[in-house]
Amino acid sequence: MKASAIAHANIALVKYWGKRDNGLMLPHNGSISMTTDDFAAHTTVEFGVPEDVLVLNGTQLGKGTEEYDEYVGNFLAALREMTGRRERVKIVSKNDFPTAAGLASSAAGFAALATAVNEALGLNLDQQALSVLARRGSGSATRSIYGGFVEWLRGSNQDGRDSIALQIAPPSHWPAFRMIACITSFQAKKVKSRAGMSQTVKTSALYKGWLDSVKHDLDAVRSGIQSRDFSLVGRTAEENCLKMHATMMTTRPPIIYWNAGTLELIHSILDWRDEGLECYFTIDAGPQVKIMCLSKDAEEIMKRAKEFPGIEDVRLARPGPDARVVREHLF
Ligand code: PMV
Repeated sequence: MKASAIAHANIALVKYWGKRDNGLMLPHNGSISMTTDDFAAHTTVEFGVPEDVLVLNGTQLGKGTEEYDEYVGNFLAALREMTGRRERVKIVSKNDFPTAAGLASSAAGFAALATAVNEALGLNLDQQALSVLARRGSGSATRSIYGGFVEWLRGSNQDGRDSIALQIAPPSHWPAFRMIACITSFQAKKVKSRAGMSQTVKTSALYKGWLDSVKHDLDAVRSGIQSRDFSLVGRTAEENCLKMHATMMTTRPPIIYWNAGTLELIHSILDWRDEGLECYFTIDAGPQVKIMCLSKDAEEIMKRAKEFPGIEDVRLARPGPDARVVREHLF
C-alpha cells in the first residue's frame, strides 16, 4: 500500500490552453510536448492511513488550501470514483525546481502521483490509462507519463476516455534536441493556469483563431519530430507560443506572464537567429523562457544565456524518460 515514483516535467511545443470540460479536465485542443530529463517530481504515497494528507516540498497543505482543494482533492475524488477504493492516503512530494512559476511543476507532480498510486493500489493501469488518471490532476500531466516526444489527443468522447497521451517518439529518436530553461524569476505566478485558461476561453476575442490554427501546428510539429526537421519544429513551436500568449494578453482582465527579462531575451533570441545561431523560444504560463536548439549549439547558447542580465538560473534539458516507479520512499 506504499509506493514511490518519479516523473519529469514536459515543455509543450504545441500548447494546451482551455478546457471544454472543467470537471473531467478535457482540453479544447490537442497538444505536443517534450518530456525533459530534468525538473523531476518524486512522490511517495501510502494508503490505509487515518486521513488524507499532502506534504509538498516540506510543507503540509491540507483541506482548505488551494493546492489541496483544487488539485489533489479533485484528483483523489476522481481516483475514488474510477476505482471504487476508499482508503485514505498520505502523499509526500518533492520537486527539484521552482513550483508554480511556469515550469510545469503540476505536470511532473501528477504524473508521479498517478504512477505511485497505480503501484501502491495494484491497479495495473497501462500507460494510456495512467495518462487519463494523471489528467484528472492537471492537464499537462497527461503528457508526462511518457518520455520523449508526446501528443495528448483532444479526444471527442464526452466521458474523456479518448483524451489520452501517445508517444510520438522515444528520447533515443532525437537525442540532439535541447531545451534551455532560462529562469527570469523564482516568484510563483499570480494567475494559475487553471484560472487563467478558463478566463481566456470566456473572454478573449482571439480564442477562436487560436483553436482554428492548432491543427496545422499539431500536424507540422508531429511530422517535424518524425523527420527530425529542427527548423520546422522550432519555428512552429515559437509561433504557437506567441499565439497562445496573444490569447492570454487579450483576456479580460489581461494575463501577462512576461516580465522585462522575458521580453529582452525574446529580442536577443531573434537577433541570435538572424546571426545564424539557430534557436527558437517557447514560454508557458509564467515568465521563464525555454530556448530550443540542437546539441551542437547548446554550449554557445548556454553561455550567452548565463551572461544575460536578469536571468536567475539556466538549466539544460534533453528528451527524458517515462514516469516510473522507484524504490526510494520519502517517508
Ligand atoms: O496543465 P496545466 O494546468 O499546468 O496547464 C498547462 C498550460 C501550459 O503550460 C501553458 C501549456 C501546456 O500545454 O503545457
